Amino acid sequence: MNYLEALSRRYSVKKFNNEIIPQETLHNILESGKLAASSLGLQPYKIIVVESEEMKQKLIPAFYNPSQISTCSHLIVIISKRIIDDSYIHGYFNHISEVRDVPLEKLDLFKKSINQHIVQKTSDEIFNWAEKQSYIVLANLMYAAAIENIDTCPMEGFRQEMIEDILEINPEREKVTVTLALGYRSEEDHFQHMKKVRKPNEKLFKFI
Ligand SMILES: Cc1cc2nc3c(=O)[nH]c(=O)nc-3n(C[C@H](O)[C@H](O)[C@H](O)COP(=O)(O)O)c2cc1C
Repeated sequence: MNYLEALSRRYSVKKFNNEIIPQETLHNILESGKLAASSLGLQPYKIIVVESEEMKQKLIPAFYNPSQISTCSHLIVIISKRIIDDSYIHGYFNHISEVRDVPLEKLDLFKKSINQHIVQKTSDEIFNWAEKQSYIVLANLMYAAAIENIDTCPMEGFRQEMIEDILEINPEREKVTVTLALGYRSEEDHFQHMKKVRKPNEKLFKFI
């Protein structure tokens, strides 16, 4: 499918049909989330993939509109970091060193500049910055799913404390930013027949 066709077919599903996405397709979609660009490459987020029926059931009351959660195949929860400390940065550089087979000393300048950049930021700034990166992951996942013919609904409409309690998130260190339900649209979901509402080009784009 052409990517514009896939994106035009995509809509935010209100009700899925309970069918389960094949493992390989899910794996490919998750890989696209992994491949998302992130500022300084730090990936200041973590991604929980809810696949067990038991956990989906537990999470239903945490959503204002539960119909997607009770009918989806998988629910992805993107969690942003509030804290980027020395040990996190250290771990990142050890990883670069391993993957690219470069001695750690050679990365020292880069490490120092990242450290300086991060140290200057307040914890609120770190968190705002981390959340922006999380939305890039969301966009990649939605785009890949559309290409794979998998339907989605991005959702911010959840009870923050409840979802974090259920998923055992430490709210001092991280926060659930956004979730993405995946599956196959139900024939009963009339939203699939609605025309897309988007700003006309002259209001959205400015060519200079
Ligand atoms: C970050 C984000 C959060 C959203 N949260 C919800 C939500 O909680 N519940 C819901 O039904 N739709 C949610 N939506 C879907 C939007 O309402 C939808 O994308 C928008 O109305 C455009 O419609 P379309 O996606 O069907 O083209 C969200 C979308 C985004 C990007």
